[in-house]
Amino acid sequence: MSTIGVFSTTGTTILLFCFFTSGEAACTFPSDLTGTWLLSEPSLPTKTFTSSQVSPFTVTYASSTYSNLVFECHINSGNFYVMKTATPIQILTVDFDIFFCWSLSRQSSNKFLYYASTDEDSAAGGDRVEILPTTTSVTNYTAICDTTTFSNGDFRVMIKQGTASSERITCPDSMLATGTYTMTDSSGTDYCTGGASNLDGCSASGTLTANYTACSTKIFSSAGGQAYCMYQEDFSSTNSSNTHYVSMFNTDSSVDSSATHFFTCVVVYSDPNNASIYMSTHPNYCFNTSYQNATYMSQTGGYTIDWTASSEYTDTPNV
Ligand SMILES: *[C@@H]1O[C@H](CO)[C@@H](O)[C@H](O)[C@H]1NC(C)=O
Ligand SMILES: *[C@@H]1O[C@H](CO)[C@@H](O)[C@H](O)[C@H]1NC(C)=O
Ligand SMILES: *[C@@H]1O[C@H](CO)[C@@H](O)[C@H](O)[C@H]1NC(C)=O
Ligand SMILES: *[C@@H]1O[C@H](CO)[C@@H](O)[C@H](O)[C@H]1NC(C)=O
Ligand SMILES: *[C@@H]1O[C@H](CO)[C@@H](O)[C@H](O)[C@H]1NC(C)=O
Ligand SMILES: *[C@@H]1O[C@H](CO)[C@@H](O)[C@H](O)[C@H]1NC(C)=O
Repeated sequence: MSTIGVFSTTGTTILLFCFFTSGEAACTFPSDLTGTWLLSEPSLPTKTFTSSQVSPFTVTYASSTYSNLVFECHINSGNFYVMKTATPIQILTVDFDIFFCWSLSRQSSNKFLYYASTDEDSAAGGDRVEILPTTTSVTNYTAICDTTTFSNGDFRVMIKQGTASSERITCPDSMLATGTYTMTDSSGTDYCTGGASNLDGCSASGTLTANYTACSTKIFSSAGGQAYCMYQEDFSSTNSSNTHYVSMFNTDSSVDSSATHFFTCVVVYSDPNNASIYMSTHPNYCFNTSYQNATYMSQTGGYTIDWTASSEYTDTPNV
C-alpha cells in the first residue's frame, strides 16, 4: 500500500484509494454476530463471523471448486447484507467476485434468522450466488438481493455455538405429546419395519427424544435421537390450522453434514379430533407447499412421520 501523502493532495483521495485496493469491507455486521455460529446450511454449517467477514464457504462453479472462501460485508441496507469474496477468484485468468445476499433478523443475541435472497445460479450447482468480473462495480443491494419479501417457512436459523440448550423454545402444542412413530421417505420406503419407536415431547421442555428400537433411520438428522425446538412459525398463510413450521436443533455433539445435521425443519400438524400427529422433515430448511406439507414430502432427504400420541398435553379441556 502506498504511503499516505505521497500520491495525493487530500486525505479523502487516499482513503478511497486504500479502501478499494486493500479489500477492506464496506460495512459491518450486527455486533452480536462476532463469534462462532451453527447454521442451517447443507455443508460447512459452522461459520465464524468477525465484525465484517464470515467464513468458510465453498463454491463450485463450472466444475472448479473454490474452497475456504472468506466473504466480507459489501453493502448493508436495512436487514439486507450483500456479501462479496474478500479475495477474488480466478476463472481462466480473469478475476471474479462472488456475491450473495442474506436478510438477517435478530431473535436474540445468540439466535438470528437468515433468508437467502439471491436467486439460484445453475452454473454454481444451484447455490444462491452471483459471480461477476471484478471490473463490475456493485453499488446497489438490489443488484444481488433478488427476493426481498419472504413467505412463512422460508427462514433459516443460526445460533451461537454453545447456546442451544438456553436458546430452545417451547415446542408448539402439537408436539407436546408422547407416543410411537413410524417414518417413511419421499419414495414411500418405510424405515420402521416391524413396529414403531417411541417419541417423547413431554418429559423435557423444548425437547423431543426418540428411541430407535424399531426405526432404522435417524429422526431430526440426529444420531442420538434428541432435538430441541429452536424456532417456530405458524402455517396460517396456507389456511391450515394446527400446523407449524419448526426448526429443530440436533443435540449430537458434532455432525457430518451427510447423515447428521445441526438443524432439521419440520412441518407438524396435529389432528384436533384424535391422537394423530403428522410431521414432515428435511435437513436444514423446509420447502414451500408445492413440495412439502405435514403429510407430504417430495424431496430427497426428507421424511414423513406418523406419530400417535398415547398421552397429550392439553391446556383447553374439552367440555
Ligand atoms: C437501487 O436500485 C433500485 C431498483 O433497481 C432503485 O429503485 C434505487 O433507487 C437504487 N438505489 C440507489 C441508492 O441507487
Ligand atoms: C423404545 O420404544 C419402544 C416402543 O415404544 C418401547 O417398547 C421401548 O421400551 C423403548 N425403549 C427405551 C429404552 O425407552
Ligand atoms: C382460506 O382463508 C380465507 C380467508 O379466511 C377463506 O376465505 C378461504 O375460504 C380459505 N380457504 C380454504 C381452502 O380453507
Ligand atoms: C385420526 O383421524 C384421521 C382422519 O381425520 C385418520 O386418518 C387417522 O387414522 C386417525 N388417527 C387415529 C389414531 O385414530
Ligand atoms: C414453490 O416454489 C417454486 C419454485 O421456487 C415455485 O415455482 C412455486 O410457485 C412455489 N409454490 C408456492 C405455493 O409458493
Ligand atoms: C399436502 O400436499 C399434498 C400433495 O400436494 C396434497 O394432496 C394435500 O392436500 C396437502 N395437504 C394439506 C393439508 O394441504
